[in-house]
Amino acid sequence: MKKEFREMLKEKGRSELPAVLLCAAECAPLAKTGGLADVVGTLPKSLARLGIDARVIIPYHRVIKNKYAGQTEHMFHFYSNLGWRKAYVGIEKLVLDGVVIYLVDNEQYFGDKIYRGGYPEGEQYAYFCRAVLDTLPLLDFRPEVVHCNDWHTAMIPMLAKTQYQGGMQENLRFLLTIHNIAFQGKFGFDYVQDLLGVDSKYYTWEFMELNGCADFLKAGCVFSDRINTVSPSYANEIKTPYYAEGLEGILNARSEQLSGIINGIDKDVFNPRTDGLLPARYDRGHLNGKAACKAELQQRMGLEVRPDVPLFAMVTRMTEQKGFDLVAHVIDDLMTNNDMQFMLLGTGDERFENFMRGAESRYKGRLCAYIGYNEELSHLVYAGSDFYLMPSRFEPCGLSQMIAMRYGSIPIVRETGGLRDTVAPYNEYTDEGVGFSFANYDAWEMRNTVLYALSFWNNKEVMHGLISRAMQADFGFELSAQEYARLYIWML
Ligand code: ADP
Ligand code: GLC
Repeated sequence: MKKEFREMLKEKGRSELPAVLLCAAECAPLAKTGGLADVVGTLPKSLARLGIDARVIIPYHRVIKNKYAGQTEHMFHFYSNLGWRKAYVGIEKLVLDGVVIYLVDNEQYFGDKIYRGGYPEGEQYAYFCRAVLDTLPLLDFRPEVVHCNDWHTAMIPMLAKTQYQGGMQENLRFLLTIHNIAFQGKFGFDYVQDLLGVDSKYYTWEFMELNGCADFLKAGCVFSDRINTVSPSYANEIKTPYYAEGLEGILNARSEQLSGIINGIDKDVFNPRTDGLLPARYDRGHLNGKAACKAELQQRMGLEVRPDVPLFAMVTRMTEQKGFDLVAHVIDDLMTNNDMQFMLLGTGDERFENFMRGAESRYKGRLCAYIGYNEELSHLVYAGSDFYLMPSRFEPCGLSQMIAMRYGSIPIVRETGGLRDTVAPYNEYTDEGVGFSFANYDAWEMRNTVLYALSFWNNKEVMHGLISRAMQADFGFELSAQEYARLYIWML
């Protein structure tokens, strides 16, 4: 154990590290729609290296069942009360890369989509919170910290503290990590009361009410022992009305218990030197493989196969968050006036998908919009691109820009949240920095930054320096895991 941890524990009058149960809606590689899954998949592995027994509990989604049914062990099952309903809870155990994952099985709630949207999603995850709490005393594991993630698991601390007194292990601590404050799980109070039996005295602004709704994330912010988010900048931003989506009051009130811990990426999965999903491998000293990846990407995606043209890429959920309105505003200007290519891999809002399909038809051979979710292709896009565009309106952390850097694709980002914390902008006077950035959420500012980046394209020395520094930046999960370990110990 690290000396620092030993000393921290000593102050608490104990010698063992706490055991942790991570609760979430998704976990890579089992079920993933975004960065949350990556974090939940990677954090326990990194914590294990620090000596912390961290296990995961997630729903047994159909996509997991389809692939892993043969590897799971049925532990037990029972029925939970979900209001007037009796709901089956099956607990399956899966060990993956040494990490124990408990899967909550219920075909009715997790038989099709990971997220059903709207009220049905509220019922899915109200059920999940209830199932986790009822499972805790039955598990072959005694966590001291329950680590909840986003609104889908944010009711756990409130239910524990208001409905399970005496029935729960003593001194159980609750941490809530906010990965995205834009999604809060807002429902009519009657609905929540019907599902979870919440006492109406909690439907006030001090507890879970926000703008006439019962708000799961707000309840989590009120009842968790500590709150963190996934970058220091975002931790500050969510104390302001522009970013907080109504939660600035509670987050300011609890700012002493709020911190920011930047995510990392799984350096084993995202490693251009060993990546089996690429047609060729490379590292910063030998970039020939990167050129081969670019040629393969261009060829596969119907782009002109040209090494000399700068290839810009995005791999993303297509939502407001990710800055698509900026891209839509200036893509014609950029494509018309510059010799460049653009590769988008993404899926999401129909209006953005359709816009990008239209752009593809206008710039055939130079712009490709691959609408869909494709893990394998994403690796080739990171490896085969020269620049990586991420002009987010807000970005709690962002993993894509870190992955892009690891593959030597130079990020162009808006200075917000985790993007600000991970992308040091290029300084042409000192020749430092790993990417390019702009401050305001403004399409022309983004376009000017793209042009500024392009102005270095033919300067091999500058480009090589940028690529080399970007690939060298250490975004492994080790540092994040250490911060989480400190936080867990503080909470004891
Ligand atoms: P967010 O979690 O907000 O979507 P992040 O940057 O934290 O953003 O994480 C996104 C993760 O999802 C990255 O690993 C990215 O490569 C992956 N991803 C997003 N869209 C796609 C897609 N269409 N196909 C494959 N991977 C995707
Ligand atoms: C959310 C955020 C993203 C972050 C991810 C993992 O999806 O949008 O910025 O990287 O969670 O924490």
